[in-house]
Amino acid sequence: MALFNPLKLGNITIANRIGMSALTRNRSTDTVPNEVMQKYYVQRAAGGTGLIVTEGTLITRQGTEWPQAPGIWDKAQVAGWKKITDAVHETGGKIYCQLWHLGRVSHPEAPQQIAAGVPVYAPSAIPARGGKFRFLPGRPGYVTPTEIPDPTVIIAQFKQAAINAKAAGFDGVELHGANGYIVAQFLDSTANKRTDKWGGSPENRARFALETLKALVEVWGPNVSMKISPAGGYNDVGMPLQETIETFGYLLREADKLGLSYIALMRYGAALDPEFDGKKRATQHDVVGTFSPYLEKTHIFVNCEVTPVEAEELVSSGTAAGVFFGFPYVTHPDVARRIAAGKPLDNVPNVAHLYGAEGVDPAIGYVDYKEAVY
Ligand code: PHB
Repeated sequence: MALFNPLKLGNITIANRIGMSALTRNRSTDTVPNEVMQKYYVQRAAGGTGLIVTEGTLITRQGTEWPQAPGIWDKAQVAGWKKITDAVHETGGKIYCQLWHLGRVSHPEAPQQIAAGVPVYAPSAIPARGGKFRFLPGRPGYVTPTEIPDPTVIIAQFKQAAINAKAAGFDGVELHGANGYIVAQFLDSTANKRTDKWGGSPENRARFALETLKALVEVWGPNVSMKISPAGGYNDVGMPLQETIETFGYLLREADKLGLSYIALMRYGAALDPEFDGKKRATQHDVVGTFSPYLEKTHIFVNCEVTPVEAEELVSSGTAAGVFFGFPYVTHPDVARRIAAGKPLDNVPNVAHLYGAEGVDPAIGYVDYKEAVY
């Protein structure tokens, strides 16, 4: 199967074309990666995954919807991740760190945001609709953020996180440019109304993503990647189709010149498309067909509801260099081995344990899913 051919990715080689995409699992000790996370990632490396991408990893202290999301801004976090990357490497796996800043979808009353001592920063003072801060009294939604005075300060935080990721032994970094977080907020004309060089034209809105990628490349060379979701939806982003094409087309044409290891194109998915005022938010279109022509040199990975049969078609036809599976990894540590053996991806996750639960053993619904019998 084409899916099981190795692939050179920057200066590493991955054993096959199957990636595990970032999945928020909320199991850190506060923000420090721990032993149960190590067990989880090692299980997924042992299951034959070509490339693991970590859950979204915070580049700086932020008040997220997931109080146990990990970070990579301090020494304890780097030490925690180092144990995980060492163990993944011993198991034969490769692992990129997904660098994450939430921008306007943090909450000022979340303990981590209070501890950070800075406001919730975003490109413009425009709130996202929605939100689900289940752990705060009254379960508040998103707030009106404070406009970032100088975006280069946040780019420097991304760069420092990339330096930390190197110290933590990762194989590379993935910039989280998807799903309505800070990079997507800069790209999106409904979230970014800046009148300086960081807003307005597609070139200006793409500046934050491109300058951040350049900063990451300074640290990592080719082992930098980016995930994008041009259809929008999640976290209240999305533009009319023509503007989507102009914006993401420009972004990809320029990103293609940076020598990145891959771009992950997230297709439209109904599960990440909320409804506001009776209308779905995303601009549905053929993301892969529309945007792959802009990438001449950079490997494309396709993400979102890919089936094993489709994965083989995408890779064998040359449409994609690889694919990411997300949700199937919750219940199947051995996605790649299952596909190789023709076994189905058929378990249904217990969604109550997706993000863990207060007072419940974090191992439950996390590291207790078994490999198939081979
Ligand atoms: C989620 O946990 O709901 C989540 C987090 C990050 C994403 C998408 C979804 O990029």
